Amino acid sequence: MQDGRTTLSKFLIDTLDRQPSTVSTSGLSALLVDVAASIKTISAALTKGALGGHYGSAHTVNTHGEEQKTLDIVTNDIFVQHCEWDGLLAGMVSEEMDDVYAIPAAYPRGDYLLAFDPLDGSSNIDINGVVGSIFSVLRVNRDAPDAASVDTAFLRAGHEQVAAGYAIYGPATMLVLSVGNGTHGFTLERDVGNFVLTHSDIRIPEDSGEFAINASNERFWEPPVRRYVQECKDGRSGCRARDFNMRWIASMVAEVHRILMRGGVFMYPRDFKTPEMEGRLRLLYEASPMSFLIEQAGGCAITGRERILDVVPERLHQRVPVILGSKNEVVRIRRYHDEYDRGADKPYTSPLFNERSLFLPEAPV
Ligand code: AHG
Ligand code: MN
Ligand code: MN
Repeated sequence: MQDGRTTLSKFLIDTLDRQPSTVSTSGLSALLVDVAASIKTISAALTKGALGGHYGSAHTVNTHGEEQKTLDIVTNDIFVQHCEWDGLLAGMVSEEMDDVYAIPAAYPRGDYLLAFDPLDGSSNIDINGVVGSIFSVLRVNRDAPDAASVDTAFLRAGHEQVAAGYAIYGPATMLVLSVGNGTHGFTLERDVGNFVLTHSDIRIPEDSGEFAINASNERFWEPPVRRYVQECKDGRSGCRARDFNMRWIASMVAEVHRILMRGGVFMYPRDFKTPEMEGRLRLLYEASPMSFLIEQAGGCAITGRERILDVVPERLHQRVPVILGSKNEVVRIRRYHDEYDRGADKPYTSPLFNERSLFLPEAPV
C-alpha cells in the first residue's frame, strides 16, 4: 500500500497466498474476505440501533432453548448470505441454526467448514453495550472415513482450525484474526470500508491482576474455582499478596478482547446450576475459536482439566467449561483443579482455614 498501511486483503495475500505451505490454503483468503464482508454489514446494521427496526425479541427459541432476538436472526442471515455462494464452503454451523446449513444446490461446494456465533453477548443489545461475532474455519478432512457427512466433518478438535476470529462492535469495529501465525487486529475504517491492520502480533502478558467471572453463580462453582476467586478477592491480605480487579461485560468477545489488549483471566467454568450442562459456552463457535486466538497470542485456554483445543466435539452444539487468558494465571487454575481431583487441596479449601489462619501452610506459588 502506498500509504504504508496494511489492509485485510493485503495481509491475507501476503500471509496465505504468497507463502509456501505444506498445507493447502487455497481459497481461504477469499473466504475470510467474505466473512469480513458479513462483519461490515453487521456493523452497519448495529450502528443504526433502534432506528434499524431490528430491536426486540423474535419470539422464537434457538437449539439451546434461548429466546432469539431479532438481531440474532438478522446477523445469522447476513453470515449465510455473504458466505453460501462463493464455492468455498461445504457447510455452516451457527448458534442460531439447529442443524448444519447445507450449501444450496445452486452454488458450488468447497472444502471449508464455517462455524459461527453471529451475535455474541446479545443481551447487551438492549443496553447499547458491546457485542461481537465469532467464527471458526476448518477444512474438510477428505481422508477421514466419514468425510462424506458434513455433520461429522465439523466434529474435530480445535487445534485443527485453519482460521479463527471475532469481530467486536464497540466504539470502533475491529476484526481480530488468526490463520495460525499469531493473532492480529484490524480496525474498520468506516468511511472507506477497509479493515486496516492496527494491532499486529498481539501478545498477552503472562501475569495479570484482573479476572472476569459471573460471580452470581459462585454457589454453583467447583472448589478449585472458588479457591482461585477467593484468593483474588483476598488481595494483598491473602496468599497472592496483591490486589486484583474484576470485570464482567456479559459478552465473551468483549472479555477476550480486553485480555488480548492487557491480559487477565476469563472464566465460564463448569458449575452445578444446571447439572446436565457441561458449561455455558459452546465449543464449536465460541470456546474453540477464542482458544485458538488466545493460544496464538501466547495465552492458555483450558476446561479446568484439559486444553480446550484438544477437546473433540461429540455434538455440533456441545457446551464446554472455559478458563482462558494470561498463561501463569491459567496454569495456576489448572493446578488447583489437579490438586482438588487428587484431594491435595484440603488445606486451602477447607472452611476451617482462611487466609489469616495460623494453621494454613504456605501456599505453593
Ligand atoms: P450469546 O449472546 O451468543 O448467547 O453468548 C453470551 C455468552 C457469552 O458471550 C457471555 O460470556 C455469557 O454468555 C454471559 O453469560 P451470563 O448471562 O451468565 O452473564
Ligand atoms: Mn455467544
Ligand atoms: Mn450468539
